[in-house]
Amino acid sequence: MRRASPARWRSEAVSGGAGPPPGRRSTWAGGTTAETSWAVYLDAFHGQRAGITETVLSHAFNADGADPYEWVAEPLPRSGRILDLACGSAPMAAHLAGRTYLGVDLSAAELAQAATRGVRVARADVAQLPVADRSVDAVVMSMALMLVPLQPTLREIARVLRPGGTFVATVPHHRPLPLRDGLRYARLCLALRHAGLHYPNDDQLRDPVAAFGAAGLSLQQDEATAFACHLGTADVAEQLLSSLYLPDVAARRLDAGVRIVRRWVGTDLTAPLRRFIAVR
Ligand SMILES: C[S@@+](CC[C@H](N)C(=O)[O-])C[C@H]1O[C@@H](n2cnc3c(N)ncnc32)[C@H](O)[C@@H]1O
Repeated sequence: MRRASPARWRSEAVSGGAGPPPGRRSTWAGGTTAETSWAVYLDAFHGQRAGITETVLSHAFNADGADPYEWVAEPLPRSGRILDLACGSAPMAAHLAGRTYLGVDLSAAELAQAATRGVRVARADVAQLPVADRSVDAVVMSMALMLVPLQPTLREIARVLRPGGTFVATVPHHRPLPLRDGLRYARLCLALRHAGLHYPNDDQLRDPVAAFGAAGLSLQQDEATAFACHLGTADVAEQLLSSLYLPDVAARRLDAGVRIVRRWVGTDLTAPLRRFIAVR
């Protein structure tokens, strides 16, 4: 893993080792029990399944033929410093050639995969960034805004962005969803005995203008699009199930879920995503 140059990025805590990175505990110290249990769940999930989000999303394409990473990269500037928050295995890096990249994530396992791409990464909480004020041209966050501590993270993004800098984020969404796929998700949730896919920030993201505005970010665009995820093999279908955050589902229910998704092999499943574009 390459350490980000301190001259460019202030005092990054870069580490591939196990255990909480500096600042980790204090960020969550004021958090609720629910936030803490999500953090513990996410840590274990990504420790065991590093790269799973990238694996699944690399099978998904929208009507323009773009994958979710190309879609989130579209509004970003073509040059300058870009911070990829909750970068996971750093799939965004491939879409940010010509720009100075720094990926940030809490998961040592995800960062170890990211580092194999030869990109700069730092292990830190997105709500406590080891990055100087007004030092980046853009911030991107693919598939994580729904689960990080929302206001502390948005405030950090506003702090590190230069005035006029761009923030782009994607999150899972519930529309547009064809009826057939709505029924398939419902069938899967029934098999899992699960109320549906929900995330800690669902309520706050119902009013993103207010949520972003409270942190000093001005929301410019909020749109949703459908990605068709081709379930070409049983492995891909099972990876899709493995990529879902299902904190309250018992192991035997997951077996029932596997039986359901295996029936979908050879078909496309719609994965709707929502994209926010904001300016500092
Ligand atoms: C669904 S994955 C998305 C990974 C990658 N951005 C992608 O789209 O493939 C969510 C990522 O958020 C990271 N994460 C969750 N909470 C975090 C936090 N508070 N600070 C930093 N990273 C966090 C997880 O470790 C995981 O890598």
